Amino acid sequence: MTTSKKILITGNKGYIGSVMAPWFQAQGYDVVGLDTDYYEGCTLVPELADIPTIRKDIRDVTPDDIQGVDAIIHLAALSNDPIGNLNEEWTSDINGKATIRLAEIAKDAGIRRFIFSSSCIMYGMSEASVVDETSPLAPQTVYARSKVEAEESLTQLADDNFSPTLCRNGTIYGLSPRMRFDTVLNNLMGIAFTKGRVTIHSDGTPWRPVVHVQDVSRAFQAILEAPLEDVHNQAFNVGANELNHQVRDLAEIVLRTVPNCEIVMDPHPGADQRTYKADFSKFARTFPEFRFLWNAEKGAQELYETFRKAGLTYEDYVDKRFTRLKWLQHLMDDGLINDELRWTQSAAPEGMKPAVAAE
Ligand SMILES: NC(=O)c1ccc[n+]([C@@H]2O[C@H](COP(=O)([O-])OP(=O)(O)OC[C@H]3O[C@@H](n4cnc5c(N)ncnc54)[C@H](O)[C@@H]3O)[C@@H](O)[C@H]2O)c1
Repeated sequence: MTTSKKILITGNKGYIGSVMAPWFQAQGYDVVGLDTDYYEGCTLVPELADIPTIRKDIRDVTPDDIQGVDAIIHLAALSNDPIGNLNEEWTSDINGKATIRLAEIAKDAGIRRFIFSSSCIMYGMSEASVVDETSPLAPQTVYARSKVEAEESLTQLADDNFSPTLCRNGTIYGLSPRMRFDTVLNNLMGIAFTKGRVTIHSDGTPWRPVVHVQDVSRAFQAILEAPLEDVHNQAFNVGANELNHQVRDLAEIVLRTVPNCEIVMDPHPGADQRTYKADFSKFARTFPEFRFLWNAEKGAQELYETFRKAGLTYEDYVDKRFTRLKWLQHLMDDGLINDELRWTQSAAPEGMKPAVAAE
C-alpha cells in the first residue's frame, strides 16, 4: 500500500459497502464507516463485518466526522431509479447536494482523494452503440440526474488540492451481507432459484454492463492507490468490455446455472428498455495490471451455491429486506422514518435522535 492509510467509506452498511469496507480493512487500511443504516437488519448471509461506523445521515456531516481521514470513498446514496421516482427531492438532496457538501468539507479539511460511486446509468438510452467517458450524458431518471449533478459539481471543485475520481459502475451483482435482489443478475438468479423460471419483461435486447461486487471493491482500491495524475478529476467506466451482456444473455447464463429452469418472455410496453453498452478501455489502459476475477457465469454459480446452502425461499426473494424501495416504504409506513427520510424520534438509534423543539 503506497497511499492513504485512514479512509472513510460512506454507505459502508449497504450492498457494496458491506463487501468493500472489510476488503479495504483486510488490505491494511484503517477504515471508518459513515452510514445512517437504513437497511439495518436486512442481512442475508454472511454476517456484517465489524467496521467502526459513525451512524449519521450524510446530509448532517460535519468537519469533525472526517478528522484525520486521508481519503474518502463515497457510496452513501439512494441507490436506484424506483426510489428516485418515489420522491425526487430525497434523491436530489442525498445523492446530489449532500455529496457536494461532503466534498466541500473534505476539500476544506485538506483531504485530497475523493472517490465517488457513480453509475453508467447516466448514459441513458444512448444513441451511440457503445458509450465511453466522453459520450454525452443522457440521464433519464431522477437517480441518474442526481449522479450527473454530483459529478459536475465534483469536477468544478477539482484543483491542485482536491482530486475527485468518478467511478461509473456497471450494474453490480454477487453475494453481499446486505444483499439486493433489485439488480439484474441477482434478480434473475433469485427468481430462477426459487420459482424455476426467469421472466423477461423487456424484449431481452437491452445491454447491461455487469460487474461483481468484489471486483468493484478491488477496482476502487486500484484507483485509490494510483498515481494522482492518472485519476485526478477523471471519470472511469468501471468494468470490462467482455462484461457487457444483453439481458437475454444473462437469462441464458442463469438457465445454464439453475437446474430445471425456463425462460418466460413476457414483454410489455412499460418494461425497462434502458440500454447501455459501456466501453471500459480507459480503465484497462490506466490499470493494465488489473484483472477482473469474476464474470457473470462465475457470479451466477456463486449465487446458486449460496442460495442452496441458505435454503433461499421465494418469500425471502421477494422480502422487503432485499429490495431497497420496499424497505424504505416499510420504514415510512411504520412511522420509523419521516417525510424527509430521517429516523423519527421513536426509531432513531442512539446519537441520532432528532432535536425536539423547545416548548
Ligand atoms: N448496486 C449497483 O448496481 C450500483 C451500480 C452503480 C452505482 N451504484 C452506486 O454505488 C453506491 C452504493 O450502492 P449500493 O448498491 O451499495 O446501495 P445500497 O442502497 O445497498 O447502500 C447504500 C447505503 O447508503 C446508506 N445511505 C443512504 N442514504 C443515506 C443518508 N442520507 N445518510 C447516510 N447513509 C445513507 C444506506 O443506509 C446504505 O447503507 C450508491 O451510490 C449507488 O448509487 C450502485
